[in-house]
Amino acid sequence: MNNSTEKTFVIIKPDAVEKNLVGIILSEYESKGLHLLNLKMLNATREILRQHYAEHVEKIFYPDLEKFMMSGPLVALVLEGDHAVEKVRDINGATNPENANPQSIRGRYGATTTINCVHGSDSITSGEREIEIWFSNK
Ligand code: RTP
Ligand code: MG
Repeated sequence: MNNSTEKTFVIIKPDAVEKNLVGIILSEYESKGLHLLNLKMLNATREILRQHYAEHVEKIFYPDLEKFMMSGPLVALVLEGDHAVEKVRDINGATNPENANPQSIRGRYGATTTINCVHGSDSITSGEREIEIWFSNK
């Protein structure tokens, strides 16, 4: 077996917190073998979002994304497990809930391409960068 233990970073976004989906989403990851290493609830600032979404800041959708991510508290977590990056992105589903696997979190609970319940790092390197942004307690 090709076992590759990785860490990844997840956000349970404000829409999912508002809809009381935190427990369901956490159990989705835990039941698929991912282990929770860290977790906190917070209200994101403009500054932390600009760091986190550095690749998207200049995009047309960014103002709406920022407004949504500041619309209420979110939950930030670090998960660890075999192929954690890919596993989380499979569990989350495609960005646009209409295109997402109906079993995935976004397929079940996502509203729009922006309001889509969860974030998952797209690589091990992105995960390391994001964990530093959200959990370094600077
Ligand atoms: P994520 O980073 O949240 O895991 O999502 P992703 O990789 O599937 O999608 P990405 O392209 O990285 O986009 C980050 C987040 O920006 C919002 N978005 N809105 N309206 C739009 O066209 C649009 N495109 C992206 C979503 O909240 C997406 O998850
Ligand atoms: Mg992304």
